[in-house]
Amino acid sequence: MLYIAPSLLAADFANLAAEINRVEQAGAQYLHLDVMDGAFVPNITFGPELISAIRKCTNMIFDVHLMIKRPERYIDRFVKAGADIITVHYEACENPMSVVHLIHSYEMKAAVAVSPKTPVEHLFPLIEHIDMALIMTVEPGFGGQSLIPETIEKVSTLRRYALERGIDIDIEVDGGISEKNVAELTSAGANIIVAGSAIFKSKKPRKVIHQMKDAAAKNPFKG
Ligand code: DX5
Ligand code: ZN
Repeated sequence: MLYIAPSLLAADFANLAAEINRVEQAGAQYLHLDVMDGAFVPNITFGPELISAIRKCTNMIFDVHLMIKRPERYIDRFVKAGADIITVHYEACENPMSVVHLIHSYEMKAAVAVSPKTPVEHLFPLIEHIDMALIMTVEPGFGGQSLIPETIEKVSTLRRYALERGIDIDIEVDGGISEKNVAELTSAGANIIVAGSAIFKSKKPRKVIHQMKDAAAKNPFKG
């Protein structure tokens, strides 16, 4: 199943409720929430308090992308704030598998992300244990960057590995994605598409989301 996940990082922070409503009305089912700690990445965004506040605005699926060091310290806070899926970075955990188990202990969906320079093979031992894998298509830290083309191959490597083992996993891609390049990612095997600038900075988010879904439907996994 294909999902479009607008990243709130590109929204107008002075009008969050209206911004969330705008992308929900435009046909997005997920809301991607980028939490940055100023240590794992050189940027600081928002935390559980803000997520808890916007939880009242929408029933969209809250896809919380934690770009924080040793995220196991804060999982309970994001559970209470209303997350539906929690993603931690492979590079930020001493023991990613134990963090996945911790997330699952709250009956929450768990995902692990890899930054562009991290080999996707590191996810192989985790794949049977996680609900979603996130392949970063830019260096984590900022919205509005250009997609790094070399990351696309990682998506197809992971999709093939999963299919060969009969594992039906969600593969999310994040960074520099728009209606113009989404086909390259879906044909590589991605099915959850994060887009910040392409959706929130558009005056016609409905059209952009429609174009993304259309391009994805015409370009399924090639094998
Ligand atoms: C980057 C974040 C992304 C970012 C995507 O660290 O994880 O989710 O907001 O923004 P765009 O789509 O503008 O590249
Ligand atoms: Zn993200």
